[in-house]
Amino acid sequence: MDWSKVRENFSILNEITYINAASVGLIPDTAIKEAEKWLSERRYGNIYWLEWYKIYENAIKLFAKLINASENEVTGVYNTSEGLNFIANSIDWRKGGNIITNDLEFPTNLFIWQVISKRYGLELKVIRNREGFIDIREYEEAINDKTIAIAVSWVEFSNGYVHDLEKLAKLAHDHEAYLIVDGIQGTGSLPLDVKRTKIDFLSCGGHKWLMGLSGAGFLYVRSEVLEELHPPFAGWLGDAEPFRFDYREYKPHPSARRFDLGSQNFIGYVVLNNTLSLINEIGIRNIYDKNMRLAKILAESIDNIAEIASPMPNGKLMSPIVSIKINNAEEIYQKLRERKIYIALRAGNLRVSPHLYNNEEDINKFVEELRRTIIK
Ligand SMILES: Cc1ncc(COP(=O)(O)O)c(C=O)c1O
Repeated sequence: MDWSKVRENFSILNEITYINAASVGLIPDTAIKEAEKWLSERRYGNIYWLEWYKIYENAIKLFAKLINASENEVTGVYNTSEGLNFIANSIDWRKGGNIITNDLEFPTNLFIWQVISKRYGLELKVIRNREGFIDIREYEEAINDKTIAIAVSWVEFSNGYVHDLEKLAKLAHDHEAYLIVDGIQGTGSLPLDVKRTKIDFLSCGGHKWLMGLSGAGFLYVRSEVLEELHPPFAGWLGDAEPFRFDYREYKPHPSARRFDLGSQNFIGYVVLNNTLSLINEIGIRNIYDKNMRLAKILAESIDNIAEIASPMPNGKLMSPIVSIKINNAEEIYQKLRERKIYIALRAGNLRVSPHLYNNEEDINKFVEELRRTIIK
């Protein structure tokens, strides 16, 4: 793989050092050109509408391919939070049931379950992490026949912990419960085969590892569970015949597209169509291997100057999200920004997240500046 060629498509890297895909991914130059083309077409009102709709549908196909779903199982959503809310509000909750989540979750994936459990009289079980780990045995202990859903992030945003989705899905299904996945820190970063793992739902925005704009993302709904849902909302694009504008009874679309309520953020899908083509062309396994190699180099080179706060079972990082525990993290973060090195500050730690456009030089530059800042 010619990674330097891939990098050339992110020309902003000639100006800045950016290792921060877990916050917002960079957009390739080719995608920016396509977005500009879309804006120039938009000057003409709706005359290119059908072409934009085809691009949207193609982005859905490309996303389905990325996670090995069927295209009928995927729809567009604005963001992770919206998709998770769609699912949370469509499940047939039974009073007295329970939902299991954990204390590492991004706020959305906790707040939703607080609201839902209050509204339906459910118990919310929150598993506590131990030094950044959530042992699967904790879920085994928490689950029972009253459990209706387990909700987790595929990859935890603060420290890169990766949940074993296959085991969690099996555990959930053994108790006739759903596995609901916040996928935004995994899609475009780690390989996933939904046919094998059998997760029930996955929602993700497109602006991180998928390198798109915010306001355009995807929701996956396993076909076997689609008809068990009761969406409390409807819209013209979610109808079985969206382009019929006569007076009639609403019939939900036979696919996950029933969650597609109204007009999409087309420019967002123009960008995602470009970036998903890039990701699928390079291959998610190659991207993952490369990002893990960079993350490993990073972890090894800062070993004597700071502490890795990301979980490392058997001495190995679980994802390319590397959390670094260091004194004066906020001050260091600001100093790095002054030197045009962009990473994130999360839960009091520095968070570094290399993606397909980064190289070893970026990592070395970050480590050198970190060392220099500490010594001063
Ligand atoms: C794990 C996780 N879930 C959800 C979000 C929010 O996603 P969205 O803005 O697409 O709802 C983030 C980050 O912003 C995140 O890291």
